[in-house]
Amino acid sequence: MKKVAVIYWSGTGNTETMAKQVAKGAEDAGAEVTLKPVSEAASDLVKEAAAVAFGCPAMGAEVLEENEMEPFVAGLSQAELGGKPVGLFGSYDWGDGQWMRDWAERMKGLGAVVDGEGLITQLVPSTEALDQCQELGKRLAG
Ligand SMILES: Cc1cc2nc3c(=O)[nH]c(=O)nc-3n(C[C@H](O)[C@H](O)[C@H](O)COP(=O)(O)O)c2cc1C
Repeated sequence: MKKVAVIYWSGTGNTETMAKQVAKGAEDAGAEVTLKPVSEAASDLVKEAAAVAFGCPAMGAEVLEENEMEPFVAGLSQAELGGKPVGLFGSYDWGDGQWMRDWAERMKGLGAVVDGEGLITQLVPSTEALDQCQELGKRLAG
């Protein structure tokens, strides 16, 4: 069974809602899924997974959340991500998605095979956005 890890940070629950749907999509597609807030995730989880989804909202000024998510992402290397399918997702509000474009480029720079341009949704994810989250999970499981 293909292992998929879903690792996220969420302050007010919007990205967490997305994470749960990504995990559901992957599970429904037959993957063995581990869903963890980043505070409980070890980098081994990334290494051992065949595909990984990372979720984080736009924070600061168009950056990842700085206390937990940023250090975790900064600790990732080509050894864990090279050639690996990676899905990125997160909620935002007033920006234009710059944090996600930067994040996707960063992950590609480590050799990750990033799904599309990352999945972003404004504030509370709509039904359509939640469907897209499930589809992302399915692609990562496939
Ligand atoms: C401290 C802080 C900084 C934020 N910075 C940005 C930003 O730079 N760009 C943006 O589009 N939204 C920004 N937001 C809005 C959040 O991305 C938005 O509220 C999102 O839905 C939060 O997701 P969460 O519920 O998963 O925490 C910020 C919110 C907070 C609290």
